[in-house]
Amino acid sequence: MTVRHGCPAIDEEFLQEPHRHFAQLRREGPAVQVVSPNGLPVWLVTRYADARVALTDPRFSKDYRSFGELLRRKAGGEPPAWLDALQAHMLNLDPPDHTRLRKLVAKVFTARRVAALRPRIEEITEQLLDRMADESEVDLLDAFAFALPMQVICELLGVPAEDRDNFRTWSQGVLEAGDQERARETTMRLAEYLVALIERRRHEPGKDDLITALLEVRDESDRLSEQELISMLFLLLVAGHETTVNLIANCVLALLDHPAQKAALRADPGRVDAVIEETLRYDGPINMATLRHTVEDVELSEGVTIPRDETVIVGLASANRDGERFDAAETFDADNDAQGHLAFGHGIHFCVGAPLARLEGQIAVRRLVERFPDLALAVPRDSLTYRFSGIIRGLETFPVTLRQ
Ligand code: HEM
Repeated sequence: MTVRHGCPAIDEEFLQEPHRHFAQLRREGPAVQVVSPNGLPVWLVTRYADARVALTDPRFSKDYRSFGELLRRKAGGEPPAWLDALQAHMLNLDPPDHTRLRKLVAKVFTARRVAALRPRIEEITEQLLDRMADESEVDLLDAFAFALPMQVICELLGVPAEDRDNFRTWSQGVLEAGDQERARETTMRLAEYLVALIERRRHEPGKDDLITALLEVRDESDRLSEQELISMLFLLLVAGHETTVNLIANCVLALLDHPAQKAALRADPGRVDAVIEETLRYDGPINMATLRHTVEDVELSEGVTIPRDETVIVGLASANRDGERFDAAETFDADNDAQGHLAFGHGIHFCVGAPLARLEGQIAVRRLVERFPDLALAVPRDSLTYRFSGIIRGLETFPVTLRQ
C-alpha cells in the first residue's frame, strides 16, 4: 500500500490525545489508512462492530512467519533476525499452532492458580502502601502501579527476587516505539536472561511456578519447542506486566479526574469491579494494538474493503468509545454498562491473563483509595504526558500527594 496523501500519522501529538483523534477517524469510516508510529502505512479499524470482525475473522492473520514474508516482499531485504527469537508465541500464531500453545498455557495458568494468588496480591499491596505512608509525595507509577504487577508476575513465573529490577527497563524498552535500537538491545538481553533462567529451573525446579510447570508439560509431551517456550515466557512477562501497571494508573487518574466517581467508590468499595471494567473501556492500557495482516481482501461495513496483504491495527481503544455500541461512550462512569468492551481482545486470542489483571486492579485501586482518601495530583493536570507507544496507553510519570 502506498501512503495516501494527507494520511493521518500516529505520531507523538496523536498519542498524547488519541481519543480526540479516534472520534474523528470513526466518523471517517470503519477502517482508515494511517501511518504507524514507525512510519509504516497501515489500516486502522476504528469502530466496534468492525473491530470484532477483525478480531475473529481468520482472513485477519496473526502468523508472524507470513507477516515476516509479507514485509520482506514489500520492503525488500530480510526482517531483522532478532525479531524472530521471541516471536514464536501464541499471540503471533494462527490455529493449529495457536491452539496447541494456548492449550498448554491453559493447563498451567488455571483459575485455581489465579485465585490462590489473592492473599499474596493483598499482602504485596499492603506492603507497598505501608512504604508509601512514610512519604508525602510519590510517583504512583514507581511506588505502586509498577511494583505490584511486577512482583506478582515474577513470583508467578518464578523469577528470582534479585533479578526483578532489570525487568522494568527491559519490558519498557521492548514496547517503546521511538527507539528501535533500544528495543532491539533490550529484547536481546531479555531473551538471554530467559534462556539462562529456563536452564536453571530445569536443574533446580521451583515449588509452584509457571516456568517449572511449563517445563513439566513440555518435557512430558515434547510439544513445545525451546524457542516456543522462551517466546511464551517473553509474552507472559511483557503482556502481563506493562498492561496491568497502566490499568491501575489509568484507573486512579480517571478517579482523580472524576471526584464524584471517587467519592462513590469510597462510599461503596464493592463498586470497584465496575470501576475497573469502566476503566478498561474508557481508558484501557492498550492504545491501538493489536496487529493483524489480511490474507485475503476483506469487506467491512459501508463497503470499505481492506485489500489482501495489508497490515491492520485493530483500534481497541477506539472501538471502546464507539457511541454506536456504548451509551455515554465518552463519559467515565462506573454505572455505564462496560460489558462487551474489547480491552482484553475478543475471540481465540482473548487475553489469557484477564482474571489476574482484574484481580490485581480491583485489589490495588480499592485499597489505595481506602488508605489515601485525599490522594491528589502533585502537578497541574495539563503537565501530564503519555509515553510514545502505539501499544501502551500509559503516563510517563504520575506524581501524587498522599495527604492534604
Ligand atoms: C492477549 C490485553 C493482562 C497474557 C491479550 C490481548 C489483549 C490483551 C487485547 C489480545 C491481543 C490480540 O488479539 O491480538 C491485556 C490487558 C491486560 C492484560 C488490557 C491488563 C489490564 C495480561 C496478563 C497476562 C496476559 C496479566 C498474563 C500474566 C496474555 C497472553 C495473551 C494475551 C498470554 C495471548 C493470548 C492468545 O494469543 O491466545 N491481552 N492483557 N495479559 N494476554 Fe493480556
